[in-house]
Amino acid sequence: MAVSNLPSSTDVVVIGAGVVGLGIAWRLAQRGARVTVFDKDAAGQGASHAAAGMLAACAEAEPGEEALVALGRASQRMWPAFAAELRDATGIDVELREEGTLIVALTADDQARLMHDLAFQKGLGLPLDWISAAEARRREPHLGPRLAGAIVSPEDHQVDNRKLAAALRAAAEAAGVLVRERTAVARILVAEDRAAGVVLADGSHLAAGAVVLAAGAWSRQIEGIAPEVLPPVRPIKGQMVALRMDAAAPLIRHVVWGPNIYMVPRNDGRLILGATVEEKGFDKALTAGGVLSLLEAAWRVVPAIEELPVDEMWVGHRPGSRDDAPILGPAPIRGLVYATGHHRNGILLAPITADAVARMVLDGTVDAAIRPFGMERFARAPAAVAAEKVGVELA
Ligand code: FAD
Ligand code: GLY
Repeated sequence: MAVSNLPSSTDVVVIGAGVVGLGIAWRLAQRGARVTVFDKDAAGQGASHAAAGMLAACAEAEPGEEALVALGRASQRMWPAFAAELRDATGIDVELREEGTLIVALTADDQARLMHDLAFQKGLGLPLDWISAAEARRREPHLGPRLAGAIVSPEDHQVDNRKLAAALRAAAEAAGVLVRERTAVARILVAEDRAAGVVLADGSHLAAGAVVLAAGAWSRQIEGIAPEVLPPVRPIKGQMVALRMDAAAPLIRHVVWGPNIYMVPRNDGRLILGATVEEKGFDKALTAGGVLSLLEAAWRVVPAIEELPVDEMWVGHRPGSRDDAPILGPAPIRGLVYATGHHRNGILLAPITADAVARMVLDGTVDAAIRPFGMERFARAPAAVAAEKVGVELA
């Protein structure tokens, strides 16, 4: 059965219209590929809508994640040009704010923990520094009376992730991408060991030269390929709260982290508080405990938030992989490419993912930056096909 209003074939199908899928589709279309993106819901309403928009390659760096830090830093460097290109292409400003981040210690124990992290982070050459409580308060006068000092991370910025999703969609469509919303992909069509297109939930199908699996936390729900070929991605629930500040006199201007909390001030006066990290499957419930923990942790850092009205509360599902790093690269089935598992960093990693995956699909090259993130790192996964076998011939 052919799909109404769709061609019978396309060069590339992208499953998932989050920032990952839309970014890849945009880059593919800029190079002349015919691209169709499917989303089971409205575009950009998954984790890409739920996120805080931090570009925290340095502040979130943890031992064991050296390759991920390098990927994050490379993507972080791409952000100013990426945001400018999106604005030129669409007129949408994704509000890249460059005040940087403060990571606050309230107690001597917090300070000891942060100093331990700082030693590791500085060992990687990351530009982080300890500042005194007085200096932290000079930068953010509304920090509370309990303050031992802070780490300043001058290159960890933020964007408005909801505007980013809208901008990527507009840019992709302007470049010729067909975005089909509320159209779930049920199955990947495999013919002669090659991904040959997709079957939609209504039974219709679309033939394609390549399929990019960018379905975020839902990436294992697609049928048609063996379980061991599905990327090991699971939902990691996060609850969020937005308060409303006076946009003309915001309580904070930097992204501020404290124990069990981050706070992200937006241009429109919203103050995003996040986030819980919960292994609860696709549970969508906001809980009293989750919201209480965010508000209390934020209040300990900036007591003046208690006067602010609550603007919104929501839940999102991070696409978490087994090692918390993204899964990027060719699958064991020719023509199938993974772009999923971005966990806590999908907004940060959107620019580098878009470029690298588009190159992989069209040129069959796997950039050095994404080589550590292939599916083959999970020992029991079948070996990926050689990258050059992914490259699609454009019609
Ligand atoms: P998504 O945005 O979830 O998109 C996947 C899409 O696939 C969805 O729209 C879904 O509807 C669609 N889909 C699923 N199944 C199907 C199907 N069968 N057929 C068709 N479509 C399908 N990252 C940062 O870098 N900085 C942050 O500050 C940050 N904060 C976060 C805070 C929270 C609370 C959460 C939840 C995440 C946060 N993240 C952050 C992580 C970031 O949001 C994700 O890594 C990123 O959005 C993943 O993008 P994606 O496109 O892969 O997934
Ligand atoms: N990176 C922030 C979060 O995932 O909550």
